[in-house]
Amino acid sequence: MTRLSRQRRLSESESAREVRAHDLIAADGGPGILGHEKDIFLEVGTGTDTHILERSLNHPDQLHIGIEQTRKKFEMMLRKAERLACKENLKLLHADASIAVNECFLAESLAGVCLLFPDPWPKDRHARRRLLQTSFLSQIASKLRPAAPLEIRTDDVEYARQAHQCLLEIDSLENMINGQSWLESPIDPHSHIETIFEHRFRTEGKPIYYFYLKKKEDVSLA
Ligand SMILES: C[S@@+](CC[C@H](N)C(=O)[O-])C[C@H]1O[C@@H](n2cnc3c(N)ncnc32)[C@H](O)[C@@H]1O
Repeated sequence: MTRLSRQRRLSESESAREVRAHDLIAADGGPGILGHEKDIFLEVGTGTDTHILERSLNHPDQLHIGIEQTRKKFEMMLRKAERLACKENLKLLHADASIAVNECFLAESLAGVCLLFPDPWPKDRHARRRLLQTSFLSQIASKLRPAAPLEIRTDDVEYARQAHQCLLEIDSLENMINGQSWLESPIDPHSHIETIFEHRFRTEGKPIYYFYLKKKEDVSLA
Protein backbone atom coordinates (compact mmCIF):
# COMPACT_ATOMS: atom_id res chain seq x y z
CA MET A 1 0.00 0.00 0.00
CA THR A 2 1.33 3.42 -0.86
CA ARG A 3 1.73 5.72 2.09
CA LEU A 4 0.85 9.29 1.26
CA SER A 5 2.70 11.87 3.27
CA ARG A 6 0.52 14.89 3.81
CA GLN A 7 1.74 18.19 5.18
CA ARG A 8 -0.43 19.81 7.80
CA ARG A 9 -2.38 22.82 6.55
CA LEU A 10 -0.87 26.21 7.16
CA SER A 11 -2.19 27.99 10.22
CA GLU A 12 -3.80 31.38 9.77
CA SER A 13 -0.72 33.22 11.00
CA GLU A 14 1.59 31.14 8.76
CA SER A 15 -0.62 31.85 5.72
CA ALA A 16 -0.65 35.53 6.55
CA ARG A 17 3.10 35.57 6.02
CA GLU A 18 2.71 34.92 2.29
CA VAL A 19 3.16 37.99 0.15
CA ARG A 20 1.68 38.14 -3.39
CA ALA A 21 3.36 39.65 -6.42
CA HIS A 22 0.65 42.32 -6.69
CA ASP A 23 1.40 43.44 -3.12
CA LEU A 24 4.98 44.15 -4.03
CA ILE A 25 4.29 46.56 -6.82
CA ALA A 26 1.27 48.82 -7.11
CA ALA A 27 -1.19 48.69 -10.05
CA ASP A 28 0.12 52.02 -11.36
CA GLY A 29 3.60 50.51 -11.65
CA GLY A 30 4.86 52.37 -8.60
CA PRO A 31 6.19 50.62 -5.53
CA GLY A 32 3.47 48.84 -3.50
CA ILE A 33 4.53 47.77 -0.03
CA LEU A 34 8.07 48.36 -1.23
CA GLY A 35 7.55 52.08 -1.30
CA HIS A 36 9.03 52.78 2.08
CA GLU A 37 12.33 53.73 3.48
CA LYS A 38 13.87 50.35 4.23
CA ASP A 39 16.70 48.88 2.14
CA ILE A 40 15.40 45.86 0.22
CA PHE A 41 17.41 42.63 0.02
CA LEU A 42 16.31 39.82 -2.28
CA GLU A 43 17.16 36.11 -2.10
CA VAL A 44 16.25 33.96 -5.07
CA GLY A 45 15.54 30.22 -4.61
CA THR A 46 15.37 30.04 -0.83
CA GLY A 47 14.44 26.35 -0.81
CA THR A 48 13.77 25.61 2.87
CA ASP A 49 16.88 27.32 4.09
CA THR A 50 16.93 29.77 6.99
CA HIS A 51 19.60 32.13 5.56
CA ILE A 52 17.06 34.83 4.71
CA LEU A 53 15.15 34.30 7.95
CA GLU A 54 18.32 34.79 9.99
CA ARG A 55 19.27 37.86 7.97
CA SER A 56 15.85 39.39 8.56
CA LEU A 57 16.23 38.80 12.30
CA ASN A 58 19.79 40.15 12.35
CA HIS A 59 18.86 43.28 10.37
CA PRO A 60 15.42 44.51 11.46
CA ASP A 61 16.11 47.84 9.74
CA GLN A 62 16.14 46.13 6.31
CA LEU A 63 13.35 44.47 4.29
CA HIS A 64 14.16 40.90 3.17
CA ILE A 65 12.27 39.23 0.33
CA GLY A 66 12.70 35.54 -0.50
CA ILE A 67 11.39 33.92 -3.69
CA GLU A 68 10.84 30.16 -4.01
CA GLN A 69 9.03 28.44 -6.86
CA THR A 70 8.23 25.06 -5.28
CA ARG A 71 5.01 25.35 -3.28
CA LYS A 72 5.89 22.64 -0.75
CA LYS A 73 9.26 24.22 0.08
CA PHE A 74 7.67 27.66 0.15
CA GLU A 75 5.11 26.51 2.74
CA MET A 76 7.89 24.97 4.82
CA MET A 77 9.53 28.41 4.78
CA LEU A 78 6.33 30.03 6.04
CA ARG A 79 6.28 27.54 8.92
CA LYS A 80 9.94 28.15 9.73
CA ALA A 81 9.41 31.92 9.66
CA GLU A 82 6.57 31.48 12.14
CA ARG A 83 8.64 29.23 14.43
CA LEU A 84 11.54 31.71 14.44
CA ALA A 85 9.11 34.59 15.05
CA CYS A 86 10.34 36.53 12.02
CA LYS A 87 8.97 40.03 11.84
CA GLU A 88 7.27 42.24 9.24
CA ASN A 89 10.61 42.90 7.57
CA LEU A 90 10.50 39.40 6.03
CA LYS A 91 8.37 38.76 2.94
CA LEU A 92 8.14 35.37 1.23
CA LEU A 93 6.90 35.14 -2.35
CA HIS A 94 5.87 31.92 -4.10
CA ALA A 95 6.85 32.57 -7.72
CA ASP A 96 9.18 31.78 -10.57
CA ALA A 97 11.92 34.34 -10.07
CA SER A 98 12.68 34.48 -13.79
CA ILE A 99 9.30 36.22 -14.17
CA ALA A 100 8.78 37.80 -10.74
CA VAL A 101 12.03 39.75 -10.56
CA ASN A 102 11.16 41.74 -13.64
CA GLU A 103 7.54 42.27 -12.66
CA CYS A 104 7.87 43.01 -8.96
CA PHE A 105 10.82 45.31 -8.59
CA LEU A 106 11.53 48.75 -9.94
CA ALA A 107 14.82 49.54 -11.64
CA GLU A 108 17.61 50.32 -9.16
CA SER A 109 15.38 49.52 -6.17
CA LEU A 110 17.32 46.68 -4.54
CA ALA A 111 20.04 47.11 -1.91
CA GLY A 112 21.39 43.60 -2.48
CA VAL A 113 20.64 40.23 -4.08
CA CYS A 114 21.83 36.70 -3.40
CA LEU A 115 21.49 33.53 -5.43
CA LEU A 116 22.54 30.65 -3.22
CA PHE A 117 22.99 27.30 -4.95
CA PRO A 118 20.54 27.78 -7.81
CA ASP A 119 19.94 24.48 -9.60
CA PRO A 120 22.48 23.89 -12.41
CA TRP A 121 19.98 22.06 -14.69
CA PRO A 122 22.82 20.22 -16.51
CA LYS A 123 20.71 18.66 -19.29
CA ASP A 124 20.60 20.69 -22.51
CA ARG A 125 16.82 20.41 -22.73
CA HIS A 126 16.53 22.08 -19.29
CA ALA A 127 19.05 24.83 -20.05
CA ARG A 128 16.37 27.55 -20.26
CA ARG A 129 15.61 26.98 -16.57
CA ARG A 130 19.13 27.96 -15.48
CA LEU A 131 19.11 31.18 -13.52
CA LEU A 132 22.82 31.86 -13.97
CA GLN A 133 22.52 33.03 -17.55
CA THR A 134 22.93 36.47 -19.08
CA SER A 135 19.22 37.27 -19.46
CA PHE A 136 18.36 36.67 -15.81
CA LEU A 137 21.60 38.11 -14.40
CA SER A 138 21.05 41.27 -16.51
CA GLN A 139 17.55 41.59 -15.04
CA ILE A 140 19.02 41.32 -11.56
CA ALA A 141 21.71 43.88 -12.39
CA SER A 142 19.09 46.35 -13.63
CA LYS A 143 17.19 46.09 -10.31
CA LEU A 144 20.26 46.70 -8.15
CA ARG A 145 20.89 50.26 -7.11
CA PRO A 146 24.38 51.72 -7.55
CA ALA A 147 27.01 50.01 -5.35
CA ALA A 148 24.55 47.29 -4.24
CA PRO A 149 26.10 43.80 -3.87
CA LEU A 150 25.27 40.62 -5.75
CA GLU A 151 26.38 37.35 -4.16
CA ILE A 152 26.27 33.97 -5.89
CA ARG A 153 27.26 30.58 -4.50
CA THR A 154 27.36 27.31 -6.42
CA ASP A 155 28.98 23.90 -6.02
CA ASP A 156 28.93 23.07 -9.74
CA VAL A 157 32.13 24.04 -11.56
CA GLU A 158 30.55 24.05 -15.02
CA TYR A 159 27.75 26.26 -13.76
CA ALA A 160 30.33 28.52 -12.08
CA ARG A 161 32.22 28.85 -15.38
CA GLN A 162 29.01 29.62 -17.26
CA ALA A 163 28.04 32.22 -14.64
CA HIS A 164 31.48 33.81 -14.84
CA GLN A 165 31.22 34.19 -18.64
CA CYS A 166 27.72 35.67 -18.37
CA LEU A 167 28.76 38.10 -15.63
CA LEU A 168 31.63 39.35 -17.78
CA GLU A 169 29.05 40.38 -20.39
CA ILE A 170 27.15 42.61 -17.97
CA ASP A 171 28.90 45.97 -18.03
CA SER A 172 26.97 47.43 -15.11
CA LEU A 173 28.45 44.88 -12.67
CA GLU A 174 31.86 45.16 -11.06
CA ASN A 175 33.99 42.36 -9.60
CA MET A 176 34.72 42.84 -5.88
CA ILE A 177 37.44 40.20 -5.55
CA ASN A 178 40.30 41.82 -7.44
CA GLY A 179 39.40 40.35 -10.80
CA GLN A 180 39.38 36.73 -9.58
CA SER A 181 36.56 34.71 -11.11
CA TRP A 182 35.43 33.45 -7.71
CA LEU A 183 36.68 32.57 -4.24
CA GLU A 184 36.70 29.05 -2.82
CA SER A 185 35.75 30.20 0.68
CA PRO A 186 33.51 32.98 1.98
CA ILE A 187 34.92 36.50 1.77
CA ASP A 188 33.96 37.24 5.40
CA PRO A 189 33.69 34.04 7.46
CA HIS A 190 32.43 35.96 10.53
CA SER A 191 29.27 37.32 8.93
CA HIS A 192 28.80 34.32 6.60
CA ILE A 193 25.59 32.31 7.04
CA GLU A 194 25.91 28.78 5.67
CA THR A 195 22.88 27.37 3.84
CA ILE A 196 21.52 23.80 3.97
CA PHE A 197 22.99 22.92 0.57
CA GLU A 198 26.27 24.60 1.37
CA HIS A 199 26.59 22.60 4.60
CA ARG A 200 25.86 19.41 2.71
CA PHE A 201 28.42 20.12 -0.03
CA ARG A 202 31.08 21.25 2.44
CA THR A 203 30.72 18.17 4.63
CA GLU A 204 30.94 16.01 1.48
CA GLY A 205 34.26 17.77 0.75
CA LYS A 206 32.98 19.34 -2.48
CA PRO A 207 34.47 22.66 -3.63
CA ILE A 208 32.18 25.67 -3.45
CA TYR A 209 32.47 28.74 -5.70
CA TYR A 210 31.65 32.15 -4.22
CA PHE A 211 31.03 35.17 -6.46
CA TYR A 212 31.07 38.72 -5.10
CA LEU A 213 30.03 41.57 -7.38
CA LYS A 214 28.41 44.95 -7.07
CA LYS A 215 26.51 47.33 -9.31
CA LYS A 216 28.80 50.01 -10.66
CA GLU A 217 28.43 53.37 -8.95
CA ASP A 218 28.13 55.23 -12.24
CA VAL A 219 26.45 52.99 -14.79
CA SER A 220 26.71 55.67 -17.48
CA LEU A 221 30.44 54.87 -17.53
CA ALA A 222 29.73 51.15 -18.03
C1 LIG B 1 19.52 23.72 -4.66
S1 LIG B 1 18.23 24.58 -3.86
C2 LIG B 1 19.10 25.68 -2.77
C3 LIG B 1 18.24 26.14 -1.62
C4 LIG B 1 18.93 27.10 -0.66
N1 LIG B 1 19.23 28.37 -1.31
C5 LIG B 1 20.19 26.52 -0.08
O1 LIG B 1 21.28 26.97 -0.44
O2 LIG B 1 20.08 25.60 0.76
C6 LIG B 1 17.65 25.67 -5.16
C7 LIG B 1 16.27 26.23 -4.90
O3 LIG B 1 15.99 27.23 -5.87
C8 LIG B 1 14.64 27.10 -6.27
N2 LIG B 1 14.52 27.69 -7.61
C9 LIG B 1 15.12 27.27 -8.76
N3 LIG B 1 14.75 28.03 -9.80
C10 LIG B 1 13.90 28.96 -9.30
C11 LIG B 1 13.16 30.02 -9.89
N4 LIG B 1 13.21 30.26 -11.21
N5 LIG B 1 12.39 30.78 -9.08
C12 LIG B 1 12.32 30.54 -7.75
N6 LIG B 1 12.98 29.54 -7.13
C13 LIG B 1 13.75 28.76 -7.90
C14 LIG B 1 14.40 25.60 -6.27
O4 LIG B 1 13.02 25.29 -6.20
C15 LIG B 1 15.17 25.19 -5.02
O5 LIG B 1 14.35 25.23 -3.87
